[in-house]
Amino acid sequence: MVKRSRILGCGSYLPANVVTNRDLEARVDTSDDWIVQRTGIRSRHIAADGELTSDLAIAAATRALEHAGVDAASIDCIVLATTTPDNTFPATATKVQAALGAKGFALDIQAVCAGFVYAMSIADNFIRLGQATRALVIGAETFSRLLDWKDRTTCVLFGDGAGAVVMEGYDAAGTAADRGVLSTHLHSDGAQYGLLYVDGGPSATGTAGHVRMNGQEVFRHAVSKLSSVVEEALAANGLEPAAVDWLVPHQANQRIIDGIARKLKLPTDKVVLTVDRHGNTSAASIPLALCEAVHDGRVKRGDLILMEAIGGGLTWGAAMVRW
Ligand code: ACO
Repeated sequence: MVKRSRILGCGSYLPANVVTNRDLEARVDTSDDWIVQRTGIRSRHIAADGELTSDLAIAAATRALEHAGVDAASIDCIVLATTTPDNTFPATATKVQAALGAKGFALDIQAVCAGFVYAMSIADNFIRLGQATRALVIGAETFSRLLDWKDRTTCVLFGDGAGAVVMEGYDAAGTAADRGVLSTHLHSDGAQYGLLYVDGGPSATGTAGHVRMNGQEVFRHAVSKLSSVVEEALAANGLEPAAVDWLVPHQANQRIIDGIARKLKLPTDKVVLTVDRHGNTSAASIPLALCEAVHDGRVKRGDLILMEAIGGGLTWGAAMVRW
């Protein structure tokens, strides 16, 4: 017998305001054709003035609790992955905890676009060690607040949103047939810090800063690092790619996602895609995609889900989960 974390339910939230590529044509020197061909993105949701990361997180978490059928007071751990906290401190997770009436402890984690995989891994480890029994894992971003709306090379890529899952410990057989998190795999390479970063921060400048990215280099790293981490996740569980029912990737770029699906020889109908309608929502992109596929009935009990993501740092990782 081993302790594992199974997922009881999930929920998500997207701000009402939808910004299309055509809308962006009026703001920067870009075109719908360029954005669609290079990224697959057609539109994204942008938070309203005064709508904060905590608002998105609370909405997604409330829906996840409803879907799981559990009371917020039974949650003893909240791990919130975000690059865009309401304030530099306290952790946005503590605001979410108070709003929901959850117990235990709450923390933010920062791994940019790999944030949700990191957060799930952290919560899974708390649960397996017995330090938490029922955790809320959230990815929430108002990433639009970090964009330089004059920089066409970055502002067309991102969007806002939030997704959440409820995880609970149980005694499992210890095989790949178990429900829940089978394994997580985390990596970072700080030597690549300058490839994707924000040019501000409380210590460096006293400002929030704007996203700066060497897109081509990030693309190159993404394909090779994500290919290797999905192989690592499969090998750790003694599984072949054909065992994967759903690839739920970080939604940064359709071409990166297609490249990983090709390596795994997964047909496109086994890949959950939201990048066309959400853009890159950083830590929120995986739970947003997961939720969509769960709530529209694609993901069924017992299905094997492979999640993978890469972000600034560079940070990257994968999670193998049986629904
Ligand atoms: N509209 C029109 N033209 C543009 C735009 C735009 N929005 N942006 C750039 N261009 C131009 C460039 O200026 C360049 O013009 P030039 O040839 O005259 O110099 C041309 O298009 C080609 O630019 P490239 O940067 O070479 O385009 P590329 O094919 O590499 O696509 C992209 C750029 C989409 C950013 C790609 O590199 C990419 O997706 N990279 C990975 C990004 C990523 O995955 N990030 C994930 C992590 S995000 C996180 O952690 C926060």
